[in-house]
Amino acid sequence: MAQGRRPLIAGNWKMNGLWDDGVERAETLMRLMQDAEAAQGPLPFDLLLCPPATLIGVVHFTLANTSITVGGQDCHTKASGAHTGDVSASMLKDLDCTHVIVGHSERRADHAESDAVVEAKAQAAVAAGLCAIVCVGETEAQRDAGRTAEIVARQVKGSIPTGANSQNLVVAYEPVWAIGTGKTPTAPEVQEVHALIRARLADLIGAAEAAKTRILYGGSVKPSNAKELLALPDVDGALVGGASLVAGDFWAIAAASTA
Ligand code: 13P
Repeated sequence: MAQGRRPLIAGNWKMNGLWDDGVERAETLMRLMQDAEAAQGPLPFDLLLCPPATLIGVVHFTLANTSITVGGQDCHTKASGAHTGDVSASMLKDLDCTHVIVGHSERRADHAESDAVVEAKAQAAVAAGLCAIVCVGETEAQRDAGRTAEIVARQVKGSIPTGANSQNLVVAYEPVWAIGTGKTPTAPEVQEVHALIRARLADLIGAAEAAKTRILYGGSVKPSNAKELLALPDVDGALVGGASLVAGDFWAIAAASTA
């Protein structure tokens, strides 16, 4: 973590949780945060929860008196219209979301989302006043073929919207093979890719904005590996899947960002 970039610890609940689970998890996290704030004062990191769309409202309501914000897991490229089943960025904004994840590898794979689609979604998010968390990352086959840098650079170039800056953009590096597998790249490998992302961002949005843009690591982040990953100079937080479903684990990861 470099000076000047405040850590962002984001929980992606994916398609998990019913009403009661969401409320209980949010309440537990809120208590952990309140206890820490009572002991230490204001916390030096940002916390974000991205529940399923069905739970955004109640999680936001539960966290109303805290600094923990909520975000969406996806948005449509259009603001409104005949798109059955989809959710627009302005609808997320209307629920007080601050962020939306776009281009997660599960959506790139399950819904055949191309870089162009991801860019259009990020553009829609920015237009609605949200911060877009743009996900990039190579598959295991691409990594084995030595193509990690090429794939990540291409995804960054193709998925970042025009007008992006350090306020409306976060990039998440999530190697596909590390998601939900318990495997992670080594710390030097993570740092190398994050430095590459920042260099490509500098080409796209200028060096000054790139230096301020938060780049998160995601893929099997746990309390046991968070400290090492979050201490890397170009890692500015984490996008946490499975471990974000356990409030105590998610909290431990957040606390590790400043350990
Ligand atoms: P896991 O933390 O479960 O590996 O998931 C990472 C992820 O996909 C977050 O978006």
